[in-house]
Amino acid sequence: MAIEKVGVAGCGLMGSGIAQVCAQAGFPTVVREVNEALVEKGLKGIEKNLDRLVEKGTLTAGERDAARGRLKGTTKIEDLAGADIVIEAIVEQLGAKREFWKTLEPGCGKHTIFASNTSSLSITEMAMGTGRPQRFVGMHFFNPVPVMKLVEVIRTIATEEAAYEEACAFGQRLGKTAVKTTDRPGFIVNRLLVPFLLDAIRALEEGVGTIEDIDNSMKLGAGHPMGPLTLLDFVGHDTTYSIANIMFEEFKEKRFAPPALLKRMVLAGWNGRKSGKGFYDYSDPKNPKAVKLL
Ligand code: CAA
Ligand code: NAD
Repeated sequence: MAIEKVGVAGCGLMGSGIAQVCAQAGFPTVVREVNEALVEKGLKGIEKNLDRLVEKGTLTAGERDAARGRLKGTTKIEDLAGADIVIEAIVEQLGAKREFWKTLEPGCGKHTIFASNTSSLSITEMAMGTGRPQRFVGMHFFNPVPVMKLVEVIRTIATEEAAYEEACAFGQRLGKTAVKTTDRPGFIVNRLLVPFLLDAIRALEEGVGTIEDIDNSMKLGAGHPMGPLTLLDFVGHDTTYSIANIMFEEFKEKRFAPPALLKRMVLAGWNGRKSGKGFYDYSDPKNPKAVKLL
């Protein structure tokens, strides 16, 4: 069955990007947040992004208006029930995600595919909390979603072939390269990327270099588009802290363990760019300044 209507849960960093690319690809898209202020904030961010694309000549004003017209924000979970695929991009916590799927499911058609954008949680564990493990997949997008060309599509031992192929084809229709992978924490990208990011924090803790020197070294010496500490600010420290704990729990290897400094920054609410402060201070967003940590 072809996917025609999309539901997205969460309109934060990832959910807003996912909703934007779905609407731009022609899908009527409903996006759900927990309160009106967050719905409005998320939709405003998408509108700003679409306006930027018009200014750059990537979209016409008509295409922007059509994409915006396909998007609907809501706080009601039942508004997602008419979708052929629901993509969940809420906080990286198993309890919250399982609760979300359990509340959503009774209103959904049997054909509806459930897709989690989790970075590190087990797709199998989530799927087994629903009555449709055969139509449950992972669709892991990358930040910023409108720019990054990859989606990892994750199958479990319980996923049926038809649902998996529909999810892969849907990823391609969003303009992404859909890479097939299995249900292991971090899948492909985060399995390799997360230990590297955590090591950058450990290097900082050990005084190997300053924030700017660590970032510049990886940009200029290894050709990365962003230094690792800037990227951590971009991803969000609360999210990375959850990911690290989940991966450490599974692998029991030190390289996945969250460094003490990361935990302290989360406790202090310094969650990176989205909170205004992380390794850099974003009071002037165009000119971030490295913070003094110790
Ligand atoms: N939303 C939409 N578009 C954005 C954007 C955003 N948040 N940020 C930048 N862009 C667009 C810009 O408009 C620009 O578009 P054009 O080329 O059409 O003009 C383009 O991206 C490049 O932007 P800039 O010139 O401003 O800056 P840049 O060259 O430094 O690129 C970047 C920005 C694409 C984010 C680049 O720095 C980059 O690739 N960084 C690494 C991102 C990365 O590694 N993401 C993966 C994170 S890990 C993850 O997502 C998985 C997980 O589970 C945690
Ligand atoms: P975020 O904190 O920016 O956004 C999460 C949003 O979900 C919040 O706005 C919150 O209000 C909302 N929310 C919480 N419970 C909800 C519910 N029941 N229904 C609807 N909305 C709800 O986090 P994020 O960075 O967008 O991460 C979301 C998910 O995407 C996580 O699983 C994360 O691991 C994954 N992810 C993150 C990145 C990244 O770079 N940040 C990349 C890929 C995947």
